[in-house]
Amino acid sequence: GKSSKTVWVCSDCGYDDGQWWGICKQCNGVNTMKRFSEGIERPTSGFEVTENVTRSWLPHQSVKAMPTKLTDVNKGTNQLNWRIPLSGLFGAEVGRVLGGGLVPGCLVLVGGDPGVGKSTLLLQIAAIVAEGCDMGGSAPVLYVSGEESVEQIGNRADRMRIGTDELFLYASTDIEDILEKAQTLLLRALIIDSIQTVYLRGVTGSAGGLSQVKECTEALLRFAKKTNIPVFLIGHVTKSGEIAGPRVLEHIVDVVLYMEGEKYSSHRLLRSVKNRFGSTDELGVFEMSQSGLQAVSNPSEIFLSEQQSDSDFLAGLAVTVIMDGSRAFLIEIQALCVAGSSVSRQVNGVQAGRAEMIISVLIKQAGLKLQENGIFLNVVSGVRLSETAGDLAVAAAICSSFLEFPLPVGIAFIGEIGLGGEIRTVPRMDKRINTVAKLGYKKCIIPKSAETSLTALDLGDTEIVACRNLKEMINIVF
Ligand code: TYD
Ligand code: MG
Repeated sequence: GKSSKTVWVCSDCGYDDGQWWGICKQCNGVNTMKRFSEGIERPTSGFEVTENVTRSWLPHQSVKAMPTKLTDVNKGTNQLNWRIPLSGLFGAEVGRVLGGGLVPGCLVLVGGDPGVGKSTLLLQIAAIVAEGCDMGGSAPVLYVSGEESVEQIGNRADRMRIGTDELFLYASTDIEDILEKAQTLLLRALIIDSIQTVYLRGVTGSAGGLSQVKECTEALLRFAKKTNIPVFLIGHVTKSGEIAGPRVLEHIVDVVLYMEGEKYSSHRLLRSVKNRFGSTDELGVFEMSQSGLQAVSNPSEIFLSEQQSDSDFLAGLAVTVIMDGSRAFLIEIQALCVAGSSVSRQVNGVQAGRAEMIISVLIKQAGLKLQENGIFLNVVSGVRLSETAGDLAVAAAICSSFLEFPLPVGIAFIGEIGLGGEIRTVPRMDKRINTVAKLGYKKCIIPKSAETSLTALDLGDTEIVACRNLKEMINIVF
């Protein structure tokens, strides 16, 4: 049969022949002709062939691949232009974060803290992709879980009132087994929950370890590219970063989304931090419910109304945007100034030296009589503020408490403070301001010098106020 046929392949140039030659007829390499059985993957060049079964069945790049002319690439069916649309309000929100729908053959990583709602989100995505209202009919989607049993996922789907006919559930952690099953169904999408639970036979290390996570992701990438089936990967992010987290995978996959949300809040954010097929400034806003996540079409409502109900506590509270890798976060800084306090300073989440500097600048350059005050600073929800971008918010929070003047609702502060009281620009201004605008904030106070770089941004209803120094900021805001 075909499988027993033997070929000789040059390990240098890939030339093949039905018989062995001491010198390759194509590249004249000496002793480079190696024996292969037809059906086993051949090396592209220079590789010793390993008898690694797992690798050989997983599709590698074709041996016949050749450089392609740019004009020929763009002439053909342009993959970048064709997307699987996601229907409904929820679908539209997810589709927007994905850059306008789901690109065939793309590998999407969805990261987030355990319990944030990743499995719920992906089960919902699986259902709408399977239903595919805009695709003219349903098609199979396979949701594979290494974390929960099929019954558990079934129960969850039931609670969420998902009854999609073409949704397949499978509990497995063996990548080979998963991809074999996936190939038998003509899938529209494949979901793996989670990358930390799957393993590839023949790869050392346990599931969740660095080499397993990397090898499994690469295998799934090859699968996605070869079959054109979009693959979603769920990845848990650990705070300590000890377990090989999704961070190492960011450069392998096509799209990276992060799901975020605070423990006691019912809203969830889906943020795109990498997208080979679209913009990364997209932010999806969802509200959790009994029946799963619901898209919030007007985010300012939930964010601002929450603050409004707490209006008694707003004095001494200011919002800023910090960057974590490529992610932008809004954080709240609290300040409390107490006249005649026995404690002079107590800071939490802000570098003590930086806080002291900001206080001194407020005294000297803005004329605030803070000397006789005990000053407490706190970053809400235990985040550490390690960026100077938060300086302005720290100063605003202190002013607000000292003057007993609550800051207007929906205002954010971005900027570094210099010793002269001047407000300086910080890296990634566009990204930070974009996040503020997307969340529906009314006003954003920024350094004057950053103003010119923002012309291309879609700011919606957010008003940008540029200030040169602390005095100017205080005059405008207070
Ligand atoms: P889950 O999707 O299991 O989180 P993850 O996969 O990231 O660990 O969600 C955690 C819990 O929250 C789970 O018990 C389901 C519940 N949940 C809802 O009830 N409604 C929702 O809209 C979401 C997102 C989660
Ligand atoms: Mg889960």
